[in-house]
Amino acid sequence: MLITNATLATLRDDSGFGLIPEGAVAARDGSIIWAGPAAEMPDDLQNTDGYDAGGRLLTPALIDCHTHVVFGGNRAEEFEQRLNGAGYAEIARAGGGIVSTVRATRAADEDALLRDALTRVDALIAEGVTLIEIKSGYGLDAETELKMLRTARAIAGARDIEVRTSFLGAHALPAEYAGRPDAYIDGLCIPTLQAAHAEGLVDAVDGFCEGIAFSPAQIARVFDVARALGLPVKLHAEQLSHLGGATLAAGYGALSADHLEYAQAADAQAMAASGTVAVMLPGAFYTLRETQMPPIQAFRDHGVPMAVATDCNPGSSPLTSPLLAMNMACTLFRMTPVEALLGMTAHAARALGAPDRGRIIKGARADLCLWDLRHPAELAYRIGYNPLHKRITGGRL
Ligand code: NIG
Ligand code: FE
Repeated sequence: MLITNATLATLRDDSGFGLIPEGAVAARDGSIIWAGPAAEMPDDLQNTDGYDAGGRLLTPALIDCHTHVVFGGNRAEEFEQRLNGAGYAEIARAGGGIVSTVRATRAADEDALLRDALTRVDALIAEGVTLIEIKSGYGLDAETELKMLRTARAIAGARDIEVRTSFLGAHALPAEYAGRPDAYIDGLCIPTLQAAHAEGLVDAVDGFCEGIAFSPAQIARVFDVARALGLPVKLHAEQLSHLGGATLAAGYGALSADHLEYAQAADAQAMAASGTVAVMLPGAFYTLRETQMPPIQAFRDHGVPMAVATDCNPGSSPLTSPLLAMNMACTLFRMTPVEALLGMTAHAARALGAPDRGRIIKGARADLCLWDLRHPAELAYRIGYNPLHKRITGGRL
């Protein structure tokens, strides 16, 4: 594959867009073999028939590193309840919220779950996503957690997209374990993780560390098992309050800590030391009308890489637009357009333990997007407009 006459936003390092005007990119066997100014193209490529990009913008393809796209039903009613004054945590405590999606997900068969999830995945693909993370966590029983993970794997067979799964058994306490969170963690969550791992369904282990979910001590027990199985961890941490989840996750060398509105400078320091990515989820911040801002400047000061993701889920972020997530990261969190694009590409890749993605450099996988734009800042700037011209996976035009 050879693309010529493109403006490249290479993101070759973290210092900026890495712009190359009048650039070209060549790939073979799924990987980039050369990228640079067309004038410097090696001789063998000069004689290759290329695709003329017409001066369009070429970036790494987008990566959505935090989603819950597999679920049954929806929560429009809860949306109405919240507009009538009820709080997110209040609804959860009253048996709604995540647990109401659990009921709908248990009731759905695998075909229905897949069909529903694909409507969301197709929206992500339409905006240039080629790699997506998908969590379980709306089953909270062995059968449904496995069903969700099998559905997530099936998505990669049904569409030209790569999927990384995360086991999120420690997402909420199901009704049958009311008042017995430790029994749920030890008697159900951990054995289900082991069963899912044995079936090859788990790429990473996630949890929700929060007052309405699980304590740091409970999450640590799940992470100990993940470590014994050789699985990387990540965590929903400091979303609604500061419980110490981010620093706990860093202590386990987590790939990422996600949400982080209530994180503090000391958490950023711990995450920097462990190389843990801070995943910003502005869709949830927006939907829940949160007012506590994540400590973006502390992440910058400590050199913590920041990713941006949709957090697509039926409750706190019914968002299927990565471009809108980038716009929100800028407008709501004051991230820069470069940070937003790195967040949906190279840093998202790192949050998934896939460092060969998300940059236009030699050796990286040739997952690319060609946009009807001239400058990469336009990606985060426009609202409700999809400028995708072509999505390229593994060097296939
Ligand atoms: O990432 N924070 C916990 N989990 C999801 C919300 C799940 C839900 O409300 O259904 C999140 O925001
Ligand atoms: Fe989430």
